[in-house]
Amino acid sequence: MDNAPSPLAALAWLADAGVCEATGETPVDRFAAPAAVPNFSPPKPATRMLPQAAGDKPATAGTGAGPLAKSARTLAELKAALEAFDGCALKRTAQNTVFADGNPASRIMFIGEAPGADEDRIGTPFVGRAGRLLDKMLAAAGLDRDKVYITNVLNWRPPANREPSPDEAAACLPFLRRHIELVDPNLIVLLGAVASRHVMGVSEGIMKLRGRWLEYRLGDRMVPTMPTMHPAYLLRQPSHKKLAWRDLLAIQDHIINYRLLERRDQVR
Ligand code: URA
Repeated sequence: MDNAPSPLAALAWLADAGVCEATGETPVDRFAAPAAVPNFSPPKPATRMLPQAAGDKPATAGTGAGPLAKSARTLAELKAALEAFDGCALKRTAQNTVFADGNPASRIMFIGEAPGADEDRIGTPFVGRAGRLLDKMLAAAGLDRDKVYITNVLNWRPPANREPSPDEAAACLPFLRRHIELVDPNLIVLLGAVASRHVMGVSEGIMKLRGRWLEYRLGDRMVPTMPTMHPAYLLRQPSHKKLAWRDLLAIQDHIINYRLLERRDQVR
C-alpha cells in the first residue's frame, strides 16, 4: 500500500499552513540539505560589467568626500568622518546622521535609499513602516537584524522624503563605497531602484533589475549582488510581494549554499 499523501491532501496541508501563493513551476524541497556545498560553483550571474564607479567622480570633486572616506580605517572612523563632513546639503535639514544597523560581522549587506522621518528622528536605518516590512522580509529569508548589516545610499533624510538629487547621492557615494569596503560583504542586497542606480550605475527600473544576480566590484573580487523591491514600494504595491518573496528565496538559497551565516572574527 502506498503511504504517500494524495496531491489534494498535500495541497490542503499547505493551505492549512498558510501558503497562499505559488511562486514557481517546479517544486523545491527546501528541507533538503544543500547538495555538494564544497564544490558548489557560484551562480553564473546574468551580469553585464556595470559602470559602477563611473558616476561618483564629477559631482564629488571639491567636496573632499573621497579622501575623507578613504582615510577611515574602521566603521567607527567612517561614522565620525560622515559626522564631520559638510559637503552634502541634506545634512543641513536633517536631525541625525543615519549610519547603519545590524551586525558588522555579517557577510550580508542590505543597502536602502535614504532615511525617512522616523529614521531621521531616531538615527537608525529602517525603523519606520518600511523598516517593519523589511524585518518581515528578512524573516522570510531566515534572517534578522543580528544576521545582516543594513545601511543606505544617503545618510541624511531628503526633505519630504523626495528622491535624492544626483549631486546629493554623489556627495555620499564615496562614504558608501568605503562603507562596503570596510564591511567586506559576500552578498549585497539592493533595496529599490535608487540604491541599484547609485551602487551599480544601472538605469533600468526595479521591475527589470529585480531577481537578477549582478556583481559589485570590491577590490579584486566580485560580490554577488541582488536588487529587489524596496519595502516602501511594496507597501504601496502589495501585489508585488510575491516577486519580492521569490527574490528572497534566491537570496536564502545563496546564503545557505555559501554558508554566509558564518560570522567573521575580525570586524573593522
Ligand atoms: N527607506 C530607506 O531606504 N531607508 C531607510 O532607512 C528608511 C526608509
